[in-house]
Amino acid sequence: MADENKDQASDHGGVAKPKTLHIYDGDLQEEDNQLPNWWLWLFYGTITFGVIYWLVYHDMKVADQPDEAYRKEVAAIQAAEAKKLGNAAVTNDSLLAMSKDATTVAAGKEAFLANCVACHKPDASGLVGPNLTDAYWIHGGTPEKIYRTVHDGWVDKGMAAWAPQLGEEKVRQLVAYVLTLKNTNVAGGKAPQGDKE
Ligand code: HEC
Repeated sequence: MADENKDQASDHGGVAKPKTLHIYDGDLQEEDNQLPNWWLWLFYGTITFGVIYWLVYHDMKVADQPDEAYRKEVAAIQAAEAKKLGNAAVTNDSLLAMSKDATTVAAGKEAFLANCVACHKPDASGLVGPNLTDAYWIHGGTPEKIYRTVHDGWVDKGMAAWAPQLGEEKVRQLVAYVLTLKNTNVAGGKAPQGDKE
């Protein structure tokens, strides 16, 4: 057909009609329509996003890619967990160190006055419970043994397990405080019980 690529806009009484690019089989027409602006912006937007994404994640590597970010996050959690477990290890040394820390000892004293005085007296010189200021211990006076006593109690002997009620941290603070009482020999205290250490 001779007029295949002819501009047909004029055939419609001056009303702007898109340019017809091709006509196939007589009436099958291909028109050159303007793409809507929203579509174009979306299109250019995806290209811009792609370029920036490539620069940030692959070329300059400013930010971690998701798998790498995930790996780092997991590593951080594992490190925190390990630290917690490390802190959980109770040794004579760790408890002794706590007993030299004023803040810890003060917290322990507060917990002692709130929970222990009914049986051990506010000055810890003993009442129902033994004197904690002398050199004699029924269950042992080393930091770990005192920890075991306060943590798990000697329930059938009238000394409760305090860990379930007060929690791990308070128990350690209490042990730190009790360690500062050792051998202070408060006057008028309860008669010694247990073995001298
Ligand atoms: C209801 C009374 C009671 C309370 C409250 C109590 N205790 Fe005791 N405690 C005892 C008795 C009784 C014993 C001795 C157990 C035995 O004879 O085996 C004891 C023993 C101990 C011992 C071991 C002493 C030794 O000679 O081996 C320590 C340490 C101790 N208590 C610390 C504490 C702390 C810290 C608290 C507060 C959190 C506390 N107690 C609260 C009754 C009490």
